[in-house]
Amino acid sequence: MEDNQTPLTLKYRPRRFDQVTGNVDAVTVLRGLAATKNPRAILIYGPTGTGKTLLSNIYAHSVVCKGKREFGCEPCGGCGECENWDSTFSGEFGNTSIRQVSAADFTNSDQAINSMISDLDYSWGPFIINEIDRFKNLQSIFLQRLERQIKHSIIFTTTNIEAIDSQFKGRCTIINTHRLDDQQMSDYLRMICKKEGFTADDRMIHRMLEKLAGQDSKGQVRDALNLLEQYFAVNEVNKFN
Ligand SMILES: Nc1ncnc2c1ncn2[C@@H]1O[C@H](COP(=O)(O)OP(=O)(O)OP(=O)(O)O)[C@@H](O)[C@H]1O
Ligand SMILES: [Mg+2]
Ligand SMILES: [Zn+2]
Repeated sequence: MEDNQTPLTLKYRPRRFDQVTGNVDAVTVLRGLAATKNPRAILIYGPTGTGKTLLSNIYAHSVVCKGKREFGCEPCGGCGECENWDSTFSGEFGNTSIRQVSAADFTNSDQAINSMISDLDYSWGPFIINEIDRFKNLQSIFLQRLERQIKHSIIFTTTNIEAIDSQFKGRCTIINTHRLDDQQMSDYLRMICKKEGFTADDRMIHRMLEKLAGQDSKGQVRDALNLLEQYFAVNEVNKFN
């Protein structure tokens, strides 16, 4: 895909902990957990588009990385697992030991349970399960699994922590992602504008923040990148390089 055709959310999807904006506490805990490489259950919750899935992936890659991890448990970027990062998202599991699914991909809980449990039994690396809140009995099935020793880390994500049983939560390390505050978002928008060759004056940044707030996306990075994409398309002629 041409670089300028790649959606900004993919182009700027972090592959290292130090590329994650905001969320210092979440990053610190995940670095610490990744340091031991011990299998564990992690539940990441927070608003949509704030980094739950990407943090799950950085953690999982840090754990399976076969190269020399950099300081702070950063994935090396060069080993087979790191080079096949995108396979984790495309479902080409042959190229990576990390499995990733979303409960939202299944129409009913039986289907989700059958598929996920057989995946889990045959997995040879961390397992990322997005939207675990989707089916109630999915939680009870995994709860049974978490009561035994697990072979590999399982990372669950949800936007809806209220829908998660306290027993289930009790078996996971809980991590929370947050919306960026206005200063963090302004700095982030400026950084992307600069990389893309667009000027970002105070008025433009202010308008972006207002737009995000107006569409109920305050502090959400995915929505901010989508908005920027529209802005870049409209202002392509004014690009300064
Ligand atoms: N904290 C962040 N720092 C940098 N980029 C981010 C951050 N959060 C989100 N993004 C950007 O937004 C995209 C979507 O993030 P991600 O898939 O991790 O969101 P999510 O929290 O899992 O959302 P959902 O609840 O909708 O699944 C990423 O590919 C990345 O480009
Ligand atoms: Mg997600
Ligand atoms: Zn690596």
